[in-house]
Amino acid sequence: MLVLHKECLLCSILPKRKHADTGKGRKRVLVVVLAACLCGCGRQEPAQDIVEEVPLFWEIHTTQELLEGDYLLYYVNCAGTQMEGQGLYQSSADQAYGADAGTGKMWGYQPKEYMEAVADTSGEGVMGSRWEIQEGASYDAEETGFYYDFELPQGEYEVTVGFYNPFSARTVCVDLEGNREVDSLKILKYKLTEAVATTEVTDGSLQVKVYNPDRGSDAMKDPILSYITVKAVPVYDEALLGQYLEQMAVPSGEEGRYTASSYQVYQEKREEALGLAAGEGQPAEYRKACEELKEAYGELEEIKVYGTFQVGKRWTDDEGNLIQAHGGQVQRIPVRDAATGEMVEKWWWVGEDKSAGYRGGIRAYSSDDLYNWHSEGIVMRNVDSREQLEEDPYFQELYGDYTEEQLDNVYACLSSQTAVIERPKMLYNQKTDMYVIWFHADGPTQYSDSNYAAASAGVAVSRTPNGPFRFIDRYRLNTCPKDQEDFYPQSKGMARDMNLFVDEDGTAYIIYSSEENLTLYISRLNEEYTYLATDPEEAVYGEDFIRLFPGAQREAPALFVRDGSYYLMTSGCTGWSPNQARYYRADSVLGEWENCGDPCVGDDKLTTFDSQSTCIFLADEDKGTYIYMGDRWNSEDLTNSRYIWLPVEFQEDGSMYLHYQEEWSLESPTP
Ligand code: DGJ
Repeated sequence: MLVLHKECLLCSILPKRKHADTGKGRKRVLVVVLAACLCGCGRQEPAQDIVEEVPLFWEIHTTQELLEGDYLLYYVNCAGTQMEGQGLYQSSADQAYGADAGTGKMWGYQPKEYMEAVADTSGEGVMGSRWEIQEGASYDAEETGFYYDFELPQGEYEVTVGFYNPFSARTVCVDLEGNREVDSLKILKYKLTEAVATTEVTDGSLQVKVYNPDRGSDAMKDPILSYITVKAVPVYDEALLGQYLEQMAVPSGEEGRYTASSYQVYQEKREEALGLAAGEGQPAEYRKACEELKEAYGELEEIKVYGTFQVGKRWTDDEGNLIQAHGGQVQRIPVRDAATGEMVEKWWWVGEDKSAGYRGGIRAYSSDDLYNWHSEGIVMRNVDSREQLEEDPYFQELYGDYTEEQLDNVYACLSSQTAVIERPKMLYNQKTDMYVIWFHADGPTQYSDSNYAAASAGVAVSRTPNGPFRFIDRYRLNTCPKDQEDFYPQSKGMARDMNLFVDEDGTAYIIYSSEENLTLYISRLNEEYTYLATDPEEAVYGEDFIRLFPGAQREAPALFVRDGSYYLMTSGCTGWSPNQARYYRADSVLGEWENCGDPCVGDDKLTTFDSQSTCIFLADEDKGTYIYMGDRWNSEDLTNSRYIWLPVEFQEDGSMYLHYQEEWSLESPTP
C-alpha cells in the first residue's frame, strides 16, 4: 500500500521527506512506500522512495466549484457521525486516518489508545461530540493529544479548530504542520471557543495536532477537541472578483423578489465591486470587495407572501419590511381607490411605529386578505424640533394656520424626544367624511419628568386614512363623580391605554385606563368623534360615561360586539411584561359589565400566551370569526416586538375562549 508515512504511529520514527522545486511553483515530494517498520513494531517500514509531483490547489479546482462549497474542504465532527457541512474532500463526519470512502482522499485521526469518543446532548451538531482523554491514561505533555492528517494539494489553508467544553476552563495548543499556531488558548466551561489559523501545505498533507503541554498532572486540564474545518484560502484577484460578480448576480427581472433595504445594500456592494473590477486593485481590496459582495448577497431577504397567520413570528409587509403597528387596531374601512377614485373596502391596520424604538409616530397598513399588508406610511409623524413645525413643508401644510401657542402644544405633544404616542385607534366618520385617530398621548409635564405624566388622550384628523393626520390636541377626560370613590383623586381625568368602539347606532366611545390605571372608563364621543360628547364638567354619569371595576387596575382594553352582547378584554398593569387577561360582558356599552374571568386556555394562559390585548375584530362575517390581536412586547428591543393573532372561540352561551396556535388561517381557524 502506498502511504505518505509522516510518523510511525507506534514507534514515532519520522521518515525524512525531501522537497525539490520543479521550477513551476510545484513541489516534488518524496513519497515513501512502506514495508515493515525498522523498530520491529510490526508496522510497515520505508522500503522504496518514489518522487511524486504534488499539484497546486488552484490548478485542480475551478473557482466556481470552490465558491459553491464556500472553499470548504473538510469539516470534521470529531468523534461524531452527523455531518454539519460537507467539505469537498470528505464523505463522512469523521474517520480514522485512511482513504475516504467517497472521495478517496486520505484523511482522519491517528488512533491513540487514550482517545475516547464522547457524545454530548447539551451541545448540538458539531458540539454534540468530542474527543477526550480517557480517564487514568498516562499523559505525556508533548505527545498526548489529538492528531489529524488531511490530504491536500499545495496551497494555503485556513484551519479552524473548535472546542465545546463542558468542563472547567483549561488551555489548548494547536500545531499546524508541526508549528505552534495557537498557543494556550483558553476554553471556557459551556462556551464554544474557536481558533483560526492559516498555514502553507507543500507536501501533500496537512498535520493538525491539538494538545495541552501545560496539563501537568491535572487531568482536569486534559485537552478536548470538538471539530476541525479546513478551507482553501482564495487568491483574491481581479479574476476571482469577476467570478464572484458572476456567481452573485440577481437575474434581471428578479430584483423585486427581495426587500428594498437588503437589495439596496447588495446593489451598493455590487457597484463597488464592478468599479474595482474595471480598474486595478490590491489583493486586500479584491478581498474586501469579494467578502462584502458575498455577505450582501447572502443577506438578500426575500419578500414573503403569507397564506396563514404565523403567530409571534417576524411579520413583514409586501416590501419585506417588518410590520410596525404595535398597540394597534384592525378594521374594515371605506377607502378611496387611488387609481379609480371609487370608494372600496380595505382592511386597515393602524399602530405604533416603533422602528426607531420607544418613541415614534403612527403607521398604517392596508390589506385585502389580512395576511399580506402594504405600508401606507407614517400617517402621523412625530416632530424633531419646534423649528421643524414651521420649516418642514410636511408640517407647514398641516399646521400653517396654527397660532404660536398651538404650535407649542403640537411640539409638546408630538416631540420625538419626549412625547409618548401609544395605542392609536382610528374611526371613519361618515357624517364628516373624516378619519379620526385617537391615541394615548403622554410624556413629561411642567410638574413631572415622567414619560407618563401627561396621561391624556390625543386626537388627530385627516381626509384620507393614509394621512397626513393633523394633530388637534390632547385632553384629560371624565372624572370620578363626587359620590363615588376616586382611586386617584390627586390627578383628575387621566387617560392612558385606550381603544375606540362604534356601536350599531353610530355612537362612538373611548375606553381607557384612568385614575392612575386603577379604573377603566368608557366615555361617549361627540358626533364628529373628535372630542367627548359632553365636557367633563357637565358630563352625566351613566349617560356620558361610566367607570368600570374601580380599583381593579386593568388596561389594554379591546371592546367588540357579537350577537348583541358586548365584550371587553383587558390585561393587568405590569409595564411591558405580559400578565393574565380578564374579560367582561354587558348588554350595552354603558350598561352593567360582568367579570367573566380569563378567556385563555392551556399553557401560558397566565400570561395571555405572552401577549397583551390591543384589539378584537370581526374578520369573517360569514363564518363569524373574530380575531384577538395582542402585542408580544420586547422591552429590550421594542422594534422587534411581535404580534399574537388568534381566533376567538365562543360557546353557545356566548362565553369566549382563546387557545394558542402557532399557525392558522381563516379557512381553518381552529385545529
Ligand atoms: C403597558 C401598556 O399597555 C403599554 O401600552 C405601554 O404603555 C407599557 N405599559 C409601557 O410600560
